[in-house]
Amino acid sequence: MRIVVIFILVLLASGLRAGESRGKSPLYLDPKAKIEVRVDDLLSRMTLKEKVAQMCQYVGFQHMREAEERRMNSQLLKNSDAWAFYPGLTVKNIEDMVSRGEIGSFLHVLSPEEANKLQHLALKSRLKIPLLMGIDALHGNGMIPGSTVYPSPIGLSCTWDTMLVRKTAAQTALEMRSTGFHWAFSPNLDVARDARWGRVGETFGEDTYLVTAMGVAVIKGLQGENQVGDKQVIACAKHLVAGSEPINGLNVAPSDLSERTLRDVYYPPFKASVAAGVCTVMPAHNEINGIACHANRYLMTDLLRKEWGFNGFYISDFKDIERLAEVHRVAVDQSEAVYKSVLAGMDMHMHGPQFMEPILEMIAGNKLTEERIDESVRRILEVKFRLGLFENPFVDEKKIPERLFTKEHQQTALEAARKSIVLLKNSRGILPLKFMGKRILVTGPNANNQAMLGDWSALQPVDNVVTVLQGVRKVAGKDAEVNFFDTGDAIPGLSREIIQSAVEAARNNDVIIAVIGENALRCESVNRNSGENIDRDDINPAGLQNELVEELCKTGKPVVVVLINGRPLSITRIQKQAAAIIEAWEPGSYGGQAIAEILSGKVNPSGKLSISFPRSVGQIPVFYNHKPSQYVRKYLRTSSEPLYTFGDGLSYTSYSYSEPVLDKSYIGSDEGVTVTVEVTNTGDREGEEIVQMYLRYPVSDVTRAVKELRGFRTVSLKAGEKKQVSFVLTPEELSSYDAEMNFKVDTGEFMIMVGGSSRDEDLKTVVLTVGE
Ligand code: BGC
Repeated sequence: MRIVVIFILVLLASGLRAGESRGKSPLYLDPKAKIEVRVDDLLSRMTLKEKVAQMCQYVGFQHMREAEERRMNSQLLKNSDAWAFYPGLTVKNIEDMVSRGEIGSFLHVLSPEEANKLQHLALKSRLKIPLLMGIDALHGNGMIPGSTVYPSPIGLSCTWDTMLVRKTAAQTALEMRSTGFHWAFSPNLDVARDARWGRVGETFGEDTYLVTAMGVAVIKGLQGENQVGDKQVIACAKHLVAGSEPINGLNVAPSDLSERTLRDVYYPPFKASVAAGVCTVMPAHNEINGIACHANRYLMTDLLRKEWGFNGFYISDFKDIERLAEVHRVAVDQSEAVYKSVLAGMDMHMHGPQFMEPILEMIAGNKLTEERIDESVRRILEVKFRLGLFENPFVDEKKIPERLFTKEHQQTALEAARKSIVLLKNSRGILPLKFMGKRILVTGPNANNQAMLGDWSALQPVDNVVTVLQGVRKVAGKDAEVNFFDTGDAIPGLSREIIQSAVEAARNNDVIIAVIGENALRCESVNRNSGENIDRDDINPAGLQNELVEELCKTGKPVVVVLINGRPLSITRIQKQAAAIIEAWEPGSYGGQAIAEILSGKVNPSGKLSISFPRSVGQIPVFYNHKPSQYVRKYLRTSSEPLYTFGDGLSYTSYSYSEPVLDKSYIGSDEGVTVTVEVTNTGDREGEEIVQMYLRYPVSDVTRAVKELRGFRTVSLKAGEKKQVSFVLTPEELSSYDAEMNFKVDTGEFMIMVGGSSRDEDLKTVVLTVGE
């Protein structure tokens, strides 16, 4: 009898159920079973170590090798946010860990082949749990060569076209799934209020309402409307919270912001992303009001989970659990850092070995419970089941070429680039350029390179990228002679001698196109002057780029400046002299073509700024929705106004707006209202206008911004055509936080302003009264 009991116990301990001993596969592998049932079944078979393994993420092998080749010492490793390997652990060690089921997820896997290899190893493990592959697919899956690269988020937000942005994200998801990735660390929901911060390019700009709309569009594009399946990927709302307003403009530095500012400006995009069903959230590097975000129980558990109902999982940011001890000094060592982070709500560690051991020790010492670990593991496994990974974790490598950079995706990238470009200046109607019979000089550091792909992109095959020079040549065809003066791509290498030679070349041409700006490409080293961890105390065009434009202007030839950059630059000097300025941001694979089409007039520019341009670094922070007292006093001798403001953007046609009309001029606090305006194309060519609606809240005990965006629509109008555009304002949009921080409908007189930018002179106003 005793022998029989021992035999049964041994069978159970090895994870086999009675049915399986007869060759039946376990319930969790049955695709027809409900996901909750599969999760429960799998969880019941897992050892504690296997569970904690699901919470552990590592970087891929190729990445580890490249980091090692860069000869990174321990200090460099500690400070690096881009590179990692694990001293003491070889690639072989990691392979063995995967095949023992000791790792649940990877990031920085650099190729589909590597993704497949890792999944093969995972399937050797006892429970055959597939790996979740995460990647920073912020605007296309650009880290993988051959993918379609769409404009970077700052450009996408200047389209103000949520359906188009959603389409770019859905296509990104398809390309990710074709190459073995399931999890985009996107969207970045930071509200950008400081142009010194290098990550502005990966945000949707300065306005909470627009950031929210764009963020939700990305989440729905990546994850699908209702259900994440095998054609979708999971999204990651990041970074919780407010790292985009660091006290000194530097990434990781503290943010110190009032509860009111957090609730008004920084929380809404996260709240909306939770409502949209975002599957994961990433806390920010920074501390907020003295509490490090990675150990912030209020944010992670009380606010997101309890108040807003977040039911996905948290992933830490790159080494930020480590930073709790190493930087913030809120933990004495890594063990305590892990403890504090998990207790605050953390579910998965990015990245490396220093997570599993502390957790196992804490459970052994009764500091943490296994039930707490089960909560995290359940969330992670659920996602793996929903993504269909247990059915097929592999990608068909042969099919990749037909699934990446498809004609359809190229077309979307081109459309997005066209709509993201903002025309800032066009004096004497120099644009559109008349190409016929002209000699056109294209020059400048970004004239013929891949800087237009922006941050979070690898170099792409040359045939997949249209540079500005190539675009202009293509669009000009035989109509014009397009000449190129190569200043070199390296902005720091731009010398006075090179500028002089560019000026000489310019003399023999009729028009000059100077392509300047920034370079956020990660493969660049000294030339990189934008992107993550590339923060600046000066936002002038770097190096001698101002001088290049000024010297070219001195030739007397019209100079059209094309900016390729990720953050607003201080272009006050250039603005005085250039005949025209085009802000192209980082327009992606087809950027050069879109720019050339705008230069030639084939496309009428329609983009509007999602962020204001400070005249100088000293004006920061600059944003349109400031408090009434912000500019009561002025700066000595210089303007206090930004050079360009939120919502600005010119067209080759012009529009006029009627006075807005309300369907009811008086409403109760539980009612909505419809605002209608008539927009007329008063110019002589077809165009698209982005109609913007702003609110000014009534007089109250709390100071409110001078205006806040509450709606936008794009309207397409032929020359002379007029159309009505309506907006519905809901009670929620008429609400704000009162002095006691209750969110409720304001009563009194609202000013509703509609027009083509956030400037007072571009807006027409109607008054709405809201009663009790
Ligand atoms: C960034 C994250 C990114 C992660 C992985 C971090 O340094 O802050 O946004 O997802 O690296 O690449």
